[in-house]
Amino acid sequence: WKFLRVTPKQSFLIIFFPVFYSGLNFIDLMVRQGNIDNPPKTPLVPGFECSGIVEALGDSVKGFEIGDRVMAFVNYSAWAEVVCTPVEFVYKIPDDMSFSEAAAFPMNFVTAYMMLFEVANLREGMSVLVHSAGGGVGQAVAQLCSTIPNVTVFGTASSFKHEAIKDSVTHLFDRNADYVQEVKRISTDGVDIVLDCLCGENTGKGLSLLKPLGTYILYGSSNMVTGETKSFFSFAKSWWQVEKVNPIKLYEENKVIAGFSLLNLLFKQNRGGLIKGVMDKLLNLYNNKKIKPVVDSLWALEEVKEAMQRIHDRGNIGKLILDVEKAPTPLVRNSSKEDNEKLTSNQY
Ligand SMILES: NC(=O)c1ccc[n+]([C@@H]2O[C@H](COP(=O)([O-])OP(=O)(O)OC[C@H]3O[C@@H](n4cnc5c(N)ncnc54)[C@H](OP(=O)(O)O)[C@@H]3O)[C@@H](O)[C@H]2O)c1
Repeated sequence: WKFLRVTPKQSFLIIFFPVFYSGLNFIDLMVRQGNIDNPPKTPLVPGFECSGIVEALGDSVKGFEIGDRVMAFVNYSAWAEVVCTPVEFVYKIPDDMSFSEAAAFPMNFVTAYMMLFEVANLREGMSVLVHSAGGGVGQAVAQLCSTIPNVTVFGTASSFKHEAIKDSVTHLFDRNADYVQEVKRISTDGVDIVLDCLCGENTGKGLSLLKPLGTYILYGSSNMVTGETKSFFSFAKSWWQVEKVNPIKLYEENKVIAGFSLLNLLFKQNRGGLIKGVMDKLLNLYNNKKIKPVVDSLWALEEVKEAMQRIHDRGNIGKLILDVEKAPTPLVRNSSKEDNEKLTSNQY
């Protein structure tokens, strides 16, 4: 967990900062289980996003100063006391945003924004289906949909979350319900955009729900994670259930099928510049109070096992954050409105 403080190599465009908070994402569970393509060799420090204060800069870095409050994407190693990352993945934190909110912001909101606006072209009057609607990305999707007039959001989530998220999702279904029938009952011709992070049989279901000219986006495979350890059975079952895509059928039915991976876009496909532009738009929405990260709970680095277990148990509403300074003892979201507000405020 611990990093030595060293001087950044002056020739690199890098920023070096002590971390205050790091985001814990579903992908971190998949990394730990080796459920991703080309998992890195162990030992490794996980984590893809964090917030802190700039401590040192490469000598050609422009636009940042020592002491700036920043959030960043990191290609692993964000769950640490200090990170070093290229300047193209670093963003200034607005004055009104707390460090804990900043650690909850980049992954969820950039993913949601890219899918809705860059891939699917969400416009007024459209409808969107999103799974895991109470999770980090799910809540970001719901909030971004609310920035466009008259967008209908269909969401699936565990039932106990429905009360907490009902204002952000137009039609909520239990995750075990037959959501295809439920959606068709409300909207006979289906939906414009399906965001599928589950994969497996949901691919065929999502495609079947698309209106003509609708877009299905696969962006995750949560179904492959069943417990603390990898299950080859669930992995095989999920892939077996994936719909075989026939391009001729897509053409006949006027449907679009797409995939989205933010980490590949950033770290393998060199699109940091594009994401900077998206972050500017998102921070503008944040400053105008249109969006705000939902923080589920804060955990010490030493509590990461329990924090991960909370996601495995489907207990989270919004994002889990690792607090580098925190002594172990979880602060868990409780059902009272007052406590929920406390968890999403700057107090932590
Ligand atoms: N492609 C990309 O660039 C990208 C970027 C970020 C995230 N993602 C993907 O988006 C999805 C959501 O990510 P997130 O970080 O915001 O996580 P999250 O939604 O907060 O993840 C936790 C929730 O996922 C649901 N879930 C579905 N299948 C599950 C399973 N097998 N085990 C445990 N929980 C399961 C549960 O909610 P319910 O029980 O309420 O359904 C759980 O509370 C993940 O699939 C992630 O890999 C993709």
